[in-house]
Amino acid sequence: MEAQVQAVKEEALASVEGAGPGRIKELRTLYLGRKGKVAALFREFKDLPPDERREAGRSLNELKSFLDSLFEEAAKEKKVEEKDRVDVTLPGRRPLIGGMHPVTSTIREICEIFLGLGYSVVEGPEVELDYYNFEALNIPRDHPARDMQDTFYVSPNVVLRTHTSPMQVRVMEKTKPPVRVVCPGRVYRRDSDPTHSPMFHQVEGLYVDENVSFAELKGTLIAFLKEIFGENVGVRFRPSFFPFTEPSAEVDIECVMCRGAGCGLCKDTGWLEILGSGMVNPRVFEMVGYDTARYRGFAFGLGVERIAMLKLGIDNIRLFFENDLRFLAQF
Ligand code: FA5
Repeated sequence: MEAQVQAVKEEALASVEGAGPGRIKELRTLYLGRKGKVAALFREFKDLPPDERREAGRSLNELKSFLDSLFEEAAKEKKVEEKDRVDVTLPGRRPLIGGMHPVTSTIREICEIFLGLGYSVVEGPEVELDYYNFEALNIPRDHPARDMQDTFYVSPNVVLRTHTSPMQVRVMEKTKPPVRVVCPGRVYRRDSDPTHSPMFHQVEGLYVDENVSFAELKGTLIAFLKEIFGENVGVRFRPSFFPFTEPSAEVDIECVMCRGAGCGLCKDTGWLEILGSGMVNPRVFEMVGYDTARYRGFAFGLGVERIAMLKLGIDNIRLFFENDLRFLAQF
């Protein structure tokens, strides 16, 4: 009897090796079921001579409880294994892939065009000295032109820059002509409505050399606007005033919505203001020590959100800054 018990034990041990949950259930019935192997041994036990029964009974009971825990443990292990198993047939989980913010891609597109025209890209501080933001740009402290821009003051001499034009001065202070740069960046004004935001982006442009003319300013900006808005876009130059350029012009494009017929977007004028520009005022050249008899230049400043809104058909500037993925994922 002892040899049979040992054989069943070894056989059971071998059979659970690598068995799945279904097979373990089957094995339990095969060994411990009413018609199973252990039951068969118990039947044989009844025919044993009385002096062997005691020993055999103990060994059979031991076998029964050994098999019981063997199958129980095997089933438990299988369950844990199943939970940890990677099911390669399940559909994969896609990671969220980031995209470029429409303002960033518009800035890049603008800079690319000017890089193609031989300009370099330079960046500068957003917290700016009053001197660079106003004074060096021919806007002295008591000049009424300061009313044009509602300014965030950090201290009496430090502001959040209200435009990227201070970069004109910073670049010229460090560079001898010829100068050809564009300067993208954030600017700040106390301004808030559907088309104006307290923080927005501008790209400044500056070209200084001998014999630079207004015709070159026009040619450059028309070439740029055709790249951005398409070959057929209508462009007009409107006389304007900036203390740091003389003469100055604001540049409009034909309304992208109504193609000049007049609509709500262009307030029935058929035109949309897109940037400010002009020939660098010799006063600014004097501030940076350039020879005003020898050098001339032109400068321009454009609103990035304005361009992005017109290109992408967006009617509220705040959408750019709410960081709603349903909006951003469209671009
Ligand atoms: C200027 O800021 C001048 N520095 C531009 C310039 C540079 C003129 C060089 C001459 C030479 P202006 O305030 O018009 O100009 O602003 C330029 C552009 O910024 C506007 O055409 C408009 O597109 C955009 N802009 C102005 N205010 C806001 C605002 N609050 N929110 C969004 N865009 C704005």
